[in-house]
Formats: sequence, structure tokens, C-alpha cells
Amino acid sequence: MADILEKDAVMWEKIAGKIKSMNAQIGEKSPHVAGADGKYDDMRIDWWTSGFWPGMLWLAYDMTGDETFKKSAWEWDDRLERKMLEINSFDHDVGFQFLPTAVFKYMLTGDQDGRRKGLAAANFLAGRFNVNGRYIRAWNGDKHGWSIVDSAMNISLLFWAAEEVGDPRFSELAKLHADTIVDKFIREDGSVNHIVSFDPLTGEVIEVLGGQGEAPDSAWSRGAAWALYGMANTYRITKDNKYLKAAQRVAHFFIAHLPADRIPLWDFRTQGSPEQEPRDTSAGAIAASGLLELAALLPEHEARQYKTVAVEMLYALSDHCGTWDNSQHEAILREGTGHKPAGQNVNVSLIYGDYYFAEAFAKLNGWTRRIF
Ligand code: GLY
Repeated sequence: MADILEKDAVMWEKIAGKIKSMNAQIGEKSPHVAGADGKYDDMRIDWWTSGFWPGMLWLAYDMTGDETFKKSAWEWDDRLERKMLEINSFDHDVGFQFLPTAVFKYMLTGDQDGRRKGLAAANFLAGRFNVNGRYIRAWNGDKHGWSIVDSAMNISLLFWAAEEVGDPRFSELAKLHADTIVDKFIREDGSVNHIVSFDPLTGEVIEVLGGQGEAPDSAWSRGAAWALYGMANTYRITKDNKYLKAAQRVAHFFIAHLPADRIPLWDFRTQGSPEQEPRDTSAGAIAASGLLELAALLPEHEARQYKTVAVEMLYALSDHCGTWDNSQHEAILREGTGHKPAGQNVNVSLIYGDYYFAEAFAKLNGWTRRIF
């Protein structure tokens, strides 16, 4: 492992201190978005983002051994599972929810109930696989043929379950879905589709939809970040070169479209003026952690280009969008964009931006455990 740089160690200390104050400020809330007042909301527990705050607590516990983080993180997988037994809207995002909670808890403490919950969530996710289109279906309701690029990250839950119980059924489904991400979501130029609508009976592609991007053929930056990171993970686990190539294709597109300040716009192909369109710090944080993942899988001379940009992005996020100037602010990063086309959560703090920012700096400080 490369030596830990002094400035990265200092930054991790700053982040751990911040998570500690967030712990006191956030309390029992399930944070998703914080606006200009710096107060995180209290989102419903079956919302796709509910795993990230407890994930930050487990990460801080893993890095520091401070029991107060563990104590605060402990109940979260119970809260999630209790909701699963009621009317709920859990979907393809159970990976985002159960990996940083139940599975992380099991990895760190050996808690068998965490393992059981993680496996139950993996079974749920596997049950969403469409055999005709070879995709994991997105969301619920009547869009049986919809699949989305974000799910490139959720398949880590299937890979974990396969390893945990020794049953390749899970990893085979994950690979089939990853193949669909490569074939139907990642475009020739490395930009990605957000939603692909399949005929759920024949598996034929019907159409591509813009989803959270500006248009079907635009380039939603967070979607690219999910694809980059998800394909790097899939390569790490399978060692199949096609996923490495896919991750690199997206990485090169992402890097080439970064503005000079290294903070991505919410959509790299927005028709609006780059000076006026919002940025998305969450896309930057996710992509930076994904680039570090990619770098860790390559020999030094190939890895350097990815690591250099990742570090530039992370310090740009910290310098220009960090909340360090306001200790009352409950988030780490400002200027995230949730869903611009729907007019939701633009120029806000997003808990997943905070999670991946913290995770990336943990990686720079030698953290080698992998949740995703
Ligand atoms: N739907 C997940 C995201 O907003 O990235």
C-alpha cells in the first residue's frame, strides 16, 4: 500500500471529527437532504438513501475504533428490517440500504442477525431479476420493464451473498445484470443512459428515458459515477476484463468533461450555460471514490491518472463546497443536485455525497474493507 500522505491524514481527522458532531446533531433522524439552513431532514426509512448515514457511522467506527459510532450505528438495520415487514417501497436500492448497515455491521462485529438481514435483502434483490431482458428491474408499480444505471452499485449485495453462502446463483445474476449495464446503458463514448425500458416479456429494448438527466441522450453525471464505480467493483470481484474496459470508458468520459474547477455539473450535456447550471457534488464524490477503486486495481503506471484526478476532485469538493466554515451545518458538502428535471433537491447537501466523500478519504488513509 502506498504511504499515507500527511494532508490526507489531516483531512480524515477532520472528517471523523465532523461525523462525530453530525452524530450529535442528527440523532435519530434518517437524513437525506439539507438545504441552506444546514439541517438534515428526517426521511422515511424505506427511502433509498437510508443506509448512507449509518454507513458513515460504521465507517468512522472501522477507522477509529470509537465505540460511540458503533453504538449509534447499531440499531439501523433493525429499523430497516422492521419497515420491510410493513407496507413499504423497498426496491432495487436494497443494496444501498443493507450493505452499509446490516452487512457492514456483520463484517465489523460478526453479528449473525446482520448477516441474516443482508442475505434476506440479497434474496429480495435477486427476485427482481427479469430473465428475458437480463436486468434487475427498477422501482415498483407498473413499469415492469424499467431498469436504471444506479443498480450497477446495488449488485455488490449479490456478489457479497454469493461469497457468503458459497452459492453462485447470486453472482451469476449480478454478472448478467452487469452485462446489461455494459451493453445497454454505457454508450460508445462512455456517457450513460439513466433508464432503459425493456419489454418485460421479450427482453427487447423499447426506449431510453432521460430520468434524472436532462434528456435521453444527455449525460447525467451521477449516473456516470454509478456506472464507473459499479463496473470497477464488478471487475474487482470477477476479474473479467470487459468490466474494467467499461469502467475505464466511463472514467475517461467523466474526466474529459470535468470543468476546470474539477466539480461536475449535474449533467455534462445540459443545454444551459455552464456558469448557471447547478453542480452535483455527490456525483463528484461518488466518481472520486470509484476512480480510487479503479486505481487500486491497476499497476501504478496506469493507476496514476485516475488517482490524481480523484484527489484533485476531492480537495476541490472540500475547498469549494465543504461546510467547514459552519460547525452547525449538519452535512459535509454543499451543492448537490438530487433530481433537477423534477425540480427536486437542487443545490443542497445530500447524504450520499457525504458518504462517498468520507469513504474516498478513508481509502486514501488505507481503508481496504469494501462495502460496495
Ligand atoms: N436514484 C438514485 C440517484 O439519485 O442517484
